[in-house]
Amino acid sequence: MADKLKWILVAGARPNFMKIAPLIKEIERYNTSKKVTEQKITPLLVHTGQHYDKGLSKVFFDELNIPKPDVNLGVGSGSHGEQTGKIMISFEKVAIEHKPDLVIVVGDVNSTIACALVSAKLCIPVAHVEAGLRSFDRSMPEEINRILTDRISDYLFTPSEDANKNLLNEGIPVEKIFLVGNIMVDSLMSILPYVQKSGIFSRLNGILPQKDAIQEYALLTLHRPSNVDDKKTLNRELGCLGAISKSIPILFPVHPRTKKQIQAFGLEKKIIWLNDEFQPLNHQNKNYLYGLPPLGYLDFMALMNRAKVIFTDSGGIQEESTVMGIPCITLRENTERPVTVQHGTNILAGTDPEKIREAFVYAMSNSVQTKIPELWDGKTAKRIVTILTSSQIQR
Ligand code: UD1
Repeated sequence: MADKLKWILVAGARPNFMKIAPLIKEIERYNTSKKVTEQKITPLLVHTGQHYDKGLSKVFFDELNIPKPDVNLGVGSGSHGEQTGKIMISFEKVAIEHKPDLVIVVGDVNSTIACALVSAKLCIPVAHVEAGLRSFDRSMPEEINRILTDRISDYLFTPSEDANKNLLNEGIPVEKIFLVGNIMVDSLMSILPYVQKSGIFSRLNGILPQKDAIQEYALLTLHRPSNVDDKKTLNRELGCLGAISKSIPILFPVHPRTKKQIQAFGLEKKIIWLNDEFQPLNHQNKNYLYGLPPLGYLDFMALMNRAKVIFTDSGGIQEESTVMGIPCITLRENTERPVTVQHGTNILAGTDPEKIREAFVYAMSNSVQTKIPELWDGKTAKRIVTILTSSQIQR
């Protein structure tokens, strides 16, 4: 029997799961295409446990058909140092025990840098999927994670040309950089044909007004520390979005950390909260900003696909909305995904209410157009596995 390649794949937080799923599927496809005598890949899926709520983790495993993790480090929440440190301590034991030939990390969360750093120090080659993105804003924890992970990775798989440029500017050798496209689009394309199976619209019956038999709404997500950790900023944003919700109802699946902050700042009354059955828990007539529990992948994609406009501070949603052609108003001063502004539907509005309103008027004017970036075609995982299996993996 030929040697097997042992690859550890790391997933920790919600935005990692849709990036890991296509890789696992592609590894399975690769293995079944090989003869018994040929070299196969043995994947080992490690969940760090950074996200642990069912609504942020298990539902994505179920809907994306990701197998149960082989190892769950169960680290949970904590400050940045604490969380990153705990992941490192636990992951090091796993890496020493399993001696993988390669560790694959995705995205820019604390699990990404923690596992990349452990692997690099154990001289295990590291592949970083979604390398090279830069917001050039070091107050953003993810920017630190991105820069450091890229610095110590051996394979840097980038989603777009701007990412290649960033890496070259930082002195990363060109032979380590591979433009492969956007891995999240692989997951998006595999779920889009099924979005009509989502029960979300019937659950929202009675909440959303019907216009020509179509439910019209905007969608909102908000969870970045820069938006939700400061009372004044959060209050101002919810006020502005509440005012906009008088012209179009806004659905707001609320991240647990955002909910915690809204409660801590006493801003609950700005939102009409819906329970798990989507029944309003409180009534007030001033606006139509609805707070929902976090949604699974299928329901969220279904909602996004038919939204008139999306307000967000998420990175992934800027990309998904570009692929779907839905106007996206980003409530941040910068983006690490400039291609979504240059070619896609993304409007960088920041947090100034005047700018948000202006962006909203423009988004509703139907003049927002999209051009899907090159290689965002659903074949990114295949490119990655082909590169990794055809190259000599060594440091
Ligand atoms: C993390 C990522 C961020 C990503 C986001 C997507 C980092 C630095 N941040 O942010 O890049 O966009 O995930 O969601 O890695 N919590 C729960 N249940 C959970 C997980 C978290 O209630 O399952 C709450 C806890 O109060 C926790 C807080 O959310 O303290 C923050 O969680 P954490 O994983 O530290 O960061 P996110 O804000 O989720």
